[in-house]
Amino acid sequence: MSNVLPIRADFPPGFQFGTATSAYQIEGQDFGGAGDSHWDALARRKGAIQDGSSGAVACDHYHRFGEDLDLAAPFDAYRFSVNWSRVLPDGRGPANPAALDFYDRLTDAILERGLKPNLTLYHWDIPQALSELGGWRNRDVAKWFGDFTEVIIGQIGDRMTAVSTINEPFCVAWVSHMEGAHAPGMKDVKATAHAMHNVLLAHGEAMRRLRAMGQKNLGIVLNFEAVQAFTNSQADLSAAVTRDAVINRWFIEAITKGRYPDEALIGFEPLMPENWQADMELIQAPLDWLGVNYYTICRPAAAPDLPWPAMTLEAGPLEKTAMGWEVFPQGLKETLKRLRTDYTGDLPLYVTENGAAFDANVENGRVSDPQRTKFIDQHMRAVLAEIKEGGNIKGFYYWSLLDNFEWSYGYEQRFGLVHVEYDSQKRTPKDSYHHLVHAVGRSKSD
Ligand code: FCB
Repeated sequence: MSNVLPIRADFPPGFQFGTATSAYQIEGQDFGGAGDSHWDALARRKGAIQDGSSGAVACDHYHRFGEDLDLAAPFDAYRFSVNWSRVLPDGRGPANPAALDFYDRLTDAILERGLKPNLTLYHWDIPQALSELGGWRNRDVAKWFGDFTEVIIGQIGDRMTAVSTINEPFCVAWVSHMEGAHAPGMKDVKATAHAMHNVLLAHGEAMRRLRAMGQKNLGIVLNFEAVQAFTNSQADLSAAVTRDAVINRWFIEAITKGRYPDEALIGFEPLMPENWQADMELIQAPLDWLGVNYYTICRPAAAPDLPWPAMTLEAGPLEKTAMGWEVFPQGLKETLKRLRTDYTGDLPLYVTENGAAFDANVENGRVSDPQRTKFIDQHMRAVLAEIKEGGNIKGFYYWSLLDNFEWSYGYEQRFGLVHVEYDSQKRTPKDSYHHLVHAVGRSKSD
């Protein structure tokens, strides 16, 4: 096979290649005594999930993790998450022994394959019992999350190479409470203001507990988008500044500088939880690394008739993935550079998610997906360009190892390097998988 991707030797020694998954998207909520998560509740709401599905069975990873980890094995690292509603079915109180046992076995299976486990504590599966108490809108979520952190870290923390607290606080707060696209499916600016703050408070509290337990190599995973005003009108340019403040600056500015950007506070200030300023010290707990998720560019256009932030997001002219997301690799380079110059300096950064959905079927045992390979190529080169300019980028994880439950899109959007036929649960590595393994997979002697 010829090299169509950058190869391991193009990257600095020790650079980590990996694949990423998350619990709710692959495990199967029906199995092993998991409780109801707020995604199960949202999935019961008619029309909330495009294909009417849920994570009930997903990829049946709960039973098939051995086979799945064999597929992840050629890389260096594996990013996965633990399902809060599996570990604590009621959100608090006694742990589910079957869940502790499952994550124990999963951890050992990761290690047996020579993979470095990179654990995400929260990838969106808060127990429904806690969601009913206000979930991320309730300040108590910091304590609940801290307690959950102690339970699961007490079980598997000793074997983790890296731990992050929360995946994509922007989606946990904004996409879920403002846009209504993710569980709990709200559209309420006050709920959003509270969630935007509480998600960081919960991060800070989890960091405090993790440090107290002696856990090493701690981070958080944030998502970033390139932002370009839809037109050059003053109104669109100003919408772009607002969007940038909300998605790209809010979380990293709080963590690294202990403040929220004024351009976002304009909308939130009157609705923020009381005395939020007092939490900034906890939120600023130093990180050991930052995870960067990057997919696309957005194009805000002013919409003065809409409530704050008074904008729509418009489609641009670039090539699009099956999600309709524009392919804009330069934005990954710019994001990494901006982090270095404005926020994180020399802190190690990992691209913890980057990938694309494209349709491709199994034909004669093969899945031809040249668009995905090209997408990976372009984004790997963007990472290389930033490394060349001095960026301290330590790893690149493709999202995702497997096709899986893509949240409100259900099973119709396929991000995997490995195709999953959901009726038979048959896995078929796509061409992109073979290319990536060929380019950066560990040789047998590694
Ligand atoms: C990210 C999520 C991940 C997956 C990809 C496509 O926002 O972290 O679970 O949905 O997008």
